[in-house]
Amino acid sequence: MIIKEEEKDLLFKRAVEKLSSGGIVAMPTETVYGLAGSIRHPSAIEKIFKIKNRPLFDPLIVHVSNVQQAKDIVENWSLLAEQLVSVFWPGPLTLVLKKKKTVSDLITAGLDTVAIRMPSHPLALSLIEKFGFPVAAPSANKFKKTSPTTAAHVESEFSESDLIILDGGTCSIGLESTVIELKENEINVLRPGFILSSDLEEFCFNHSFSVAINRRSSLKSPGNLTEHYQPKKPLVVVPERTRAIINKASGVLKTGPLFQEIKLSDDPIWAARHLYSQMRKLSEQDIDFLLIIQHPHLRGGFWEAIWDRIHKAATLVL
Ligand code: TXA
Ligand code: MG
Repeated sequence: MIIKEEEKDLLFKRAVEKLSSGGIVAMPTETVYGLAGSIRHPSAIEKIFKIKNRPLFDPLIVHVSNVQQAKDIVENWSLLAEQLVSVFWPGPLTLVLKKKKTVSDLITAGLDTVAIRMPSHPLALSLIEKFGFPVAAPSANKFKKTSPTTAAHVESEFSESDLIILDGGTCSIGLESTVIELKENEINVLRPGFILSSDLEEFCFNHSFSVAINRRSSLKSPGNLTEHYQPKKPLVVVPERTRAIINKASGVLKTGPLFQEIKLSDDPIWAARHLYSQMRKLSEQDIDFLLIIQHPHLRGGFWEAIWDRIHKAATLVL
């Protein structure tokens, strides 16, 4: 059920009650919509894995509404963590830190670390604040599929008619958070996102931290699979130089629209915000595949995260 303007307060109350009774709620964040359940209710965490068809080896991100909630679930809250969150929270940065034993192994897939972030979307923040405890929340989509960036996307993903979906509009970022692992003298970027390695370097410089910032192999993050974010129709990524050949081939075949091109804006903020909704929308058409042209000038900065998602969503990259 999608929340209507006049029902907002009532549904928000029901959402808080749902979390308190061990249920799950879909909530908007600035990155993508999440499927939230109380970290204190094993049944809620089990339900999240179940309705997403998510394998138990893929750990969840814990979402907090204040820094104390994060400190309460980790072993060592370092000066680096403290200063990072004072700059980047609330926002699209997830920290992976050594967990306290009290954090359920189900949430962390048996790892001794826990991923934590404070989202900046006001609805997510007030939901967690009102509930009073952190919630575990993966993106609100089936395993390996495209993350939702509107409430309608979430609704189309799950058949559970009693799922409360808080409608917070279109996600402003549209790609999942940057995930970083904090070690004593290094930061390992496990998943690229809106917060860039260069932002972290600048942060370290400004705050006099001498910390190495590494892009680690995807194996370091159990959920960082090579197949992910997949739309309903196969996605083919081709270099710009093949565009003429593709146009010619589709002209010769003349069997109707073989494919639809997802046209990326030159502005990475805009491109990221609309990528997933374009994947979903164009997949509904009677076509064989989706096409994205890899323009050589669309690179660097936030484009790294955008291409990371596109390449994982792709069935074929030429
Ligand atoms: O933007 C986001 O992060 C969204 C919104 C809802 O907050 N959430 C999200 O969650 O993308 P999910 O579950 O789809 O992705 C979580 C990622 C996975 O790649 C997982 O492997 C990684 O975080 N992760 C979680 N806990 C980890 C840990 N302890 N160590 C390493 N990676 C971890
Ligand atoms: Mg996900």
